[in-house]
Amino acid sequence: MPPRHLVDLADLSAAEIRAIIGRASELKRRRAAGDKPPLFERKVLAMIFEKSSTRTRVSFEAAMIEGGGGAIFLAPKDTQLGRGEPIEDTARVLSEMCDAIMVRTFAHSMVERLAVCASVPVINGLTDRSHPCQFLADLQTYVERRGDIAGRRVAWIGDGNNMCNTYIEAAALLDFELAVASPVGYEPGVLRESSADSRVRLVRDPREAAAGADLIVTDVWVSMGQEAEATTRRAAFAPYQVSAALMACARADALFMHCLPAHRGEEVAAEVIDARDSVVWEEAGNRLHAQKALLEFLFGYAG
Ligand code: CP
Ligand code: NVA
Repeated sequence: MPPRHLVDLADLSAAEIRAIIGRASELKRRRAAGDKPPLFERKVLAMIFEKSSTRTRVSFEAAMIEGGGGAIFLAPKDTQLGRGEPIEDTARVLSEMCDAIMVRTFAHSMVERLAVCASVPVINGLTDRSHPCQFLADLQTYVERRGDIAGRRVAWIGDGNNMCNTYIEAAALLDFELAVASPVGYEPGVLRESSADSRVRLVRDPREAAAGADLIVTDVWVSMGQEAEATTRRAAFAPYQVSAALMACARADALFMHCLPAHRGEEVAAEVIDARDSVVWEEAGNRLHAQKALLEFLFGYAG
């Protein structure tokens, strides 16, 4: 059986995504009751990180350890990848020794090339284009709090970046309305590439996007690799902060999400992210459960 990969969210069907999220919630409940099933006994996950990470690294590593397996952290500067060994060769070598490969990198094509040559599942742990693992945790958080996301209204405020691209992909898959409010020049790349899905609307005014929303989502104004543009970006995004006033445009029970790390006073006001009912901490915590369910799903296809 050929391996299944998670290069982008659309590698999973809507039914598979819902099943993974349901399983993640079940694993979360069992863990809270002290039950950590040995899902990954003697399995090894290789983790290539070309960018920094706290949540992605810890959640994958903790998931493997709790499930009875292990994870190997690979930094390019300490491996032959950093000295020019082709990603295709790395894929073949890691497939000989590991049961799955997770990769966080810049170019999305690197993950695609890895997946073509790997004989074990390859998981996108964030590229410049997308961040499907984070969306699984976001969806789990939404579903646990509010039920199915189908038909709900989601507002993406700020940079049309990797997370935003994944939300656009998710809107079509899971049938929710998505309003994206981005400044000129920072619109999501996937909207430029393909004809927009009717569920996705691009607006300039963040209040228009937030109006009546069930969920408000934002992310940093300066993603990893864009540090040289920081000053220009902060100026362009200044009107796009998720403030208490912006949250007030949404439904009274609207949730706020942020994949983290956050910059208080930039993309989000401290009073929003630190509010008593903020769900960002459980959103981060759900990375562990969603990834366990994802790994279990992918291992199920890997034989
Ligand atoms: N949200 C997220 O992916 O966080 P890290 O960069 O800490 O992994
Ligand atoms: N958009 C951010 C997400 C970090 C998890 C980045 O790419 O840096």
